[in-house]
Parts: sequence; structure tokens; C-alpha cells
Amino acid sequence: MSSESQKGNERLREFYEKIYEDGEENYFSKFKQGVDASETNEVVLDMVPWSGKSVLDVGCGTGSLLREILSRGARRVTGVDYSEKAIEIARARTEGDKAEFVAGNIFDMPVERHDVVVSCGTMEHSDEPARFLEALSARCSADGWIVVTCPHFINVRGFVWMALAKLHDVPMSLTDLHFLHPWEIGTWCTDLGLQVDRFVTFDHARGNGADLVNDFDKRLTNALRDAGMDNSRVPEYLQYLGKLVEYLERASTVRLEGATAAYLIKRATSPANAP
Ligand SMILES: C[S@@+](CC[C@H](N)C(=O)[O-])C[C@H]1O[C@@H](n2cnc3c(N)ncnc32)[C@H](O)[C@@H]1O
Repeated sequence: MSSESQKGNERLREFYEKIYEDGEENYFSKFKQGVDASETNEVVLDMVPWSGKSVLDVGCGTGSLLREILSRGARRVTGVDYSEKAIEIARARTEGDKAEFVAGNIFDMPVERHDVVVSCGTMEHSDEPARFLEALSARCSADGWIVVTCPHFINVRGFVWMALAKLHDVPMSLTDLHFLHPWEIGTWCTDLGLQVDRFVTFDHARGNGADLVNDFDKRLTNALRDAGMDNSRVPEYLQYLGKLVEYLERASTVRLEGATAAYLIKRATSPANAP
């Protein structure tokens, strides 16, 4: 049985509920000593002029991105997440009357249009990422933007994971149902009448540097265990990876991509209107 068929997005809901009850900083690898160390919010905030916009965040978690978007002058923000605990925290942390947080599965939500639809680190947890993108597109106004971020695999971390996933069906985590690649996202966009207007990758240290070794220490050990495989040689492998990333940091001619990718997407037929 493939790792994908063992799970399914609806089954992950309870798992997420527990993550938010226990404190997301204890689970998500983007947190270092309780602080969000991913460059996601910074990169996404830079992609669109937010002032005056209505914004929907799908899989908003505890709402940190939307609070930043509000502080950049958004007219109205809506966060959707199927974890009720995440929504409760998001409401408690967000001041003012310009934000609304709704608990529910995006596929069951009424379709209302927004100027910008963002979704960070959530598409890869969907059963059918192409349908997920379609659901984002349906909620985006005709001349609006969609911003999606997801793990990216054109880096040392990715080459290791892709080999494990393709050769041995090792899942990357209990929540990631898919490994998404730019060529797939490009094809889904074309099929939906969309186009990728801008593509950037970031979180380089996690893709190719010191953070990669730290992340793998926990993640690789757990993933091999979850796949019922021997993980006793992970420390030896990490020593090798340590040497590799040290070399990559010195060797300026080698340039791989970051561990996370952001896609700025718009309708293929609309006039060029990217910022
Ligand atoms: C990895 S977390 C990312 C949270 C947040 N965007 C961030 O970057 O910190 C994925 C989020 O998507 C939510 N989620 C997953 N599938 C969903 C669905 N079908 N409908 C609504 N929320 C969903 C989960 O509850 C979780 O909060």
C-alpha cells in the first residue's frame, strides 16, 4: 500500500487538532526554540501589494500571516482552517474587526471571491492537489492573485527524500501526502487557465545547509521508523551530510534551490498585472 492511500486529508484533521492543542511550535519543523524560522511569511508578504485588498488564507493555522497582511493595510482578511483549535487561537490572537476566522474544510466552504488567495504549506496535504488549486482559483477574483507555498525538492534535502519516497515509499512526515514539483504545478495551472507569474525558492539552509542536518536528525529517524525500516545508521549518514553541506557552503559554484517554493499565480488571460 502506498503511503498516500494510508492517510487522506480528512484523517489528518484530528492530527492537526492535536498539534494545535499541544502547541504548533513543538511540532512544525519551521520553529526553532519556539520561534518561526521559516522565511515563508517574509517572502509571501513581498509578493503582492496588500493595501486595500481582500485576502483569503486557506489552511491559515493560527493566523500569523493574516495578521501581518492586515498590518500592511489589507481591507479585509478571512482565514479558513479545518482545525477548530487553530481557529480558536487565531481569533484570540487577532485584534480589530477586519479579520474573520472560519473553521471548516475548504471543499465545504461557500465560494466567495477575494482579491488574493494565499495558502502556505497546505496544498501538499490535500488528497488531490490539482483540485485544491482549483478550489483556490474558484475563490480568486478575475484579476486577482493566488500565492501558494509548498516544500521544494530541487536541493540536497529533496534529492534524499525523493529517492526514499520513490524507491522505498518512505513518507516525509505524517501530514505530507504529496511531493509537489514545479512541472506539476505548471501543468495544473495551464489546465485551469492560470499561469505562474513568479516563482521563488527560499529556506536555503534547510534545503542545503546546517538546518538540513538538524531537520534530518529528527525527521529522517522518525520517517524510517514510521516506514518500518532500520534507522540505526542515520547518525553515520548525518555525518556524511554534515561534510556535504560544509562543502556546499564553501563551494560558491554549486547553487541548488531552497527547501520551500512560493508561486505567484494569476489568470492566464488577464493582462500583465503582477507587482
Ligand atoms: C502545515 S499547516 C500550515 C499552517 C499555516 N498556513 C502556516 O504556514 O503556518 C497546514 C494547515 O492546513 C490545514 N488544512 C489541511 N487541510 C485542510 C482542508 N482541507 N481545509 C482546511 N484546512 C486544512 C491544517 O489544519 C493546518 O492548519
